[in-house]
Amino acid sequence: MIYQVYPRSFADSDGDGVGDLPGITGRLEHLVDLGVDALWLSPFYLSPQADAGYDVADYRTIDPVFGTMADVDALLHKASRLGLRVIVDLVPNHTSDEHAWFRAALQSGPGSPERDLYLFRDGLGEHGEQPPNDWKSVFGGTAWQRVTESDGTAGQWYLHLFDVKQPDLNWQNPKVRAEFESILRFWLDRGVAGFRIDVAHGLIKAPGLPSYSAEHHLLHGNEEDRPRPPYWDQEGVHEIYRGWHRIVEEYEGDRVLVAEAWVEPAQRLARYVRPDELHQSFNFDYLLAPWSAAALREVVTESLQATDEVGAPTTWVLSNHDVLRHATRFGFAPGAVLPNGIGADDPQPDAELGLRRARAATLLMLALPGAAYVYQGEELGLPEHTTMPDDVRQDPTWRRSGHQHRGRDGCRVPIPWQGDAPSYGFGPGPRSWLPQPASWRHYALDAQQGVPGSTYEVYRAALRLRRAHALGAGSLAWVEGRVDGLVDGQVDGWGPDVLALTNGEVFVLANLGGEPIELPEGSVVLLASQLLTQADGVVSVPPDVTVWARLSG
Ligand code: NOJ
Repeated sequence: MIYQVYPRSFADSDGDGVGDLPGITGRLEHLVDLGVDALWLSPFYLSPQADAGYDVADYRTIDPVFGTMADVDALLHKASRLGLRVIVDLVPNHTSDEHAWFRAALQSGPGSPERDLYLFRDGLGEHGEQPPNDWKSVFGGTAWQRVTESDGTAGQWYLHLFDVKQPDLNWQNPKVRAEFESILRFWLDRGVAGFRIDVAHGLIKAPGLPSYSAEHHLLHGNEEDRPRPPYWDQEGVHEIYRGWHRIVEEYEGDRVLVAEAWVEPAQRLARYVRPDELHQSFNFDYLLAPWSAAALREVVTESLQATDEVGAPTTWVLSNHDVLRHATRFGFAPGAVLPNGIGADDPQPDAELGLRRARAATLLMLALPGAAYVYQGEELGLPEHTTMPDDVRQDPTWRRSGHQHRGRDGCRVPIPWQGDAPSYGFGPGPRSWLPQPASWRHYALDAQQGVPGSTYEVYRAALRLRRAHALGAGSLAWVEGRVDGLVDGQVDGWGPDVLALTNGEVFVLANLGGEPIELPEGSVVLLASQLLTQADGVVSVPPDVTVWARLSG
């Protein structure tokens, strides 16, 4: 299992209210105790933090808010000693506008080689007063910003698919390619196990930057009934990844390249993990699937099929720093259209139901073959902060969308480690860069450790079993309401709201329906997402519960 650490919010060692590298290093034992194999660290590079570090000003320097290069080395060293591999984030689609390259591009003027590292264009209209095309920023508003030239006149425009402080690089320029190859080597030489590649589907834009006026988010536009936007999933990205594959191959040991590519359908996404390209890509189809047996079954089957065809492992993910935490998502009716960020005046989730379904969904996920990704705090059952005051929000989405979309702050709230400490033990003092809800005391790690049936202990037990039964390297077979070799031979069908599968010797039953179902007679329960009841030797699996069992007979 790969565990995502969001450094700003994991653990704060110096009390400034922002998580940091020594904070992570100090908590690595927790990750070992949980059963983590590798961690992926979101960006900690020098950055003005306009998009929480996804706006990098220098890819080889550590932002002082997170620590120093010596802190990185200490983290890598301790992780290696504890048997944890560390993957870092690489942000190649754009830099910060405070990157030396962009500053030089502004100073050097139109037509200069410095400008050619980015996507500068003249504006339309008589005086170039209109943006060069109609593309929209993922965070809202136009994707173009006009600059003031050094002589004080209104000048060219530059493309920023994200925030205005994140200018897109020109990946047709060989200097950009060479620089990122060098950045890869820099971090591989320091001992990282690989990279999570930000916006991996966005680096190449269609020639001529043709018009595409539809509103879009990261994923939208890849649906089969719409043309692909001219900035997502262009053929040219694959050549870049073939080059990176060759670099990584030069290094000893297993190194991994993971794509953050919001690409549909699964077959198209699988092209990123062909044998000579990247190694894994996040399976956002799975993350986006509603709590429905039919939908999950389809997405699992298609994901496995698509990656099997190219010989790559499938991945599974339910939460990350960009989406509503799944304990909250599942607290709404399946298929409900959820806003991008929830505020106090929005409909609120059913927190109890959400957590119950989240735990069931996690046990289903951790039973599947492939690589599972867990986002910090989900092992505590953390929900989204859905009543955060709007005036503390920091995600640029909130501002850029004209306060239409609240954005992602609700899933980025600092982790509660101790129920009774200031900032719940996130740091030594009371500060935390985003407020923690008053109700979070009982989610704290120390309130759950050693407590049978707590979310933390369920994750821990699941990860231990996943390792012991090598489920990640296993293979899935759906069970069609009938299990061979049962004591009494067979079981009647469970109906359309139940998922039943085997992975090796582990039998998995997820009840997504409204009625309890019976576990096949003779099965030995290994783990369940909630406490189970048993009467006359028959184990009943209530609604919204997943069970792992061994079948005897
Ligand atoms: C995806 C990252 O996960 C997200 O947090 C960021 O805002 C965008 N890419 C832009 O870098």
